[in-house]
Amino acid sequence: MNDNLFSLNGRVIVITGAAGLLGRQHAEVVARAGGTPVLLDLHAQPVSQLAADLHDRFGVPASGWAVDITREAEVEANCVAVQARHSRIDGLVNNAANNPKMEGDGSKNFSRLENFLLAAWEADLAVGLTGAFLCAKHYGSAIARQGGSIVNISSDLGLIAPDQRLYRKPGVPEDQQPVKPVTYSVVKSGLIGLTRYLATYWVEQGVRCNALCPGGVENGQAPDFLKEVASRIPMGRMAKPDEYQGTLLFLLSEASSYMNGAVVSVDGGRTAW
Ligand SMILES: NC(=O)c1ccc[n+]([C@@H]2O[C@H](COP(=O)([O-])OP(=O)(O)OC[C@H]3O[C@@H](n4cnc5c(N)ncnc54)[C@H](O)[C@@H]3O)[C@@H](O)[C@H]2O)c1
Repeated sequence: MNDNLFSLNGRVIVITGAAGLLGRQHAEVVARAGGTPVLLDLHAQPVSQLAADLHDRFGVPASGWAVDITREAEVEANCVAVQARHSRIDGLVNNAANNPKMEGDGSKNFSRLENFLLAAWEADLAVGLTGAFLCAKHYGSAIARQGGSIVNISSDLGLIAPDQRLYRKPGVPEDQQPVKPVTYSVVKSGLIGLTRYLATYWVEQGVRCNALCPGGVENGQAPDFLKEVASRIPMGRMAKPDEYQGTLLFLLSEASSYMNGAVVSVDGGRTAW
């Protein structure tokens, strides 16, 4: 058994959506554990900068790449390039998500199911589900050469329905109230299905796959919203951005060597209520 169960020494871990709020945290914990984070996002500058920072702080050969994970040719080419640069791929964190602004136009709110545009549905599924599938297909095939770990970032809302009362705005007519879009529930539930599929698919090649279901992160939301959300969470608060690092490291490392197909809630107890 490994002396340090939580070490990622020498492991090359691909992280999608690495320039985002949580992607940066995932990248940091991989580097802190001695792994090599391979950072993918739509634009090169933020991930290249992050890779340079992680190299300076932790001495790991992190790399940053511009890849649109909805485009198979880009994913396939990047998978070849990453293996040429880092020799192997040991892990994948399917973390990217579409984060569209869904303002109303004064008479309609486009987050509502009655108004939800087919183009928005397709764009959200393209990143959240098709992107995760394409990454599993290409980076997962590379991981299957020697074994490793895939972690799909779902959500507490992959397990429970959104409480739409949280998003209400005072004074707005009922049929124009904003809601959590339908695609969020569908993508996050779909990732749990993908997790179970992948958990068995390459099991003989030593590939494990688990889902991490984070609760909401406190990130400058309005005080009234924070109070309402907190009242629905047994721990009485949202997460700090770095509070998923421990579970992600656990799932990527040998510490979770017998864990496969699990759906892990890290949500202050929200889904326990
Ligand atoms: N922040 C939260 O409160 C929270 C809670 C539960 C689950 N999650 C999940 O955690 C993950 C990360 O959330 P976040 O808050 O960091 O989101 P974020 O919006 O800050 O980051 C998402 C990243 O994905 C990238 N991305 C979007 N489309 C892409 C594409 N086609 N190709 C490559 N990259 C693309 C974006 O550029 C962005 O950097 C998401 O899957 C989200 O659903 C977040």
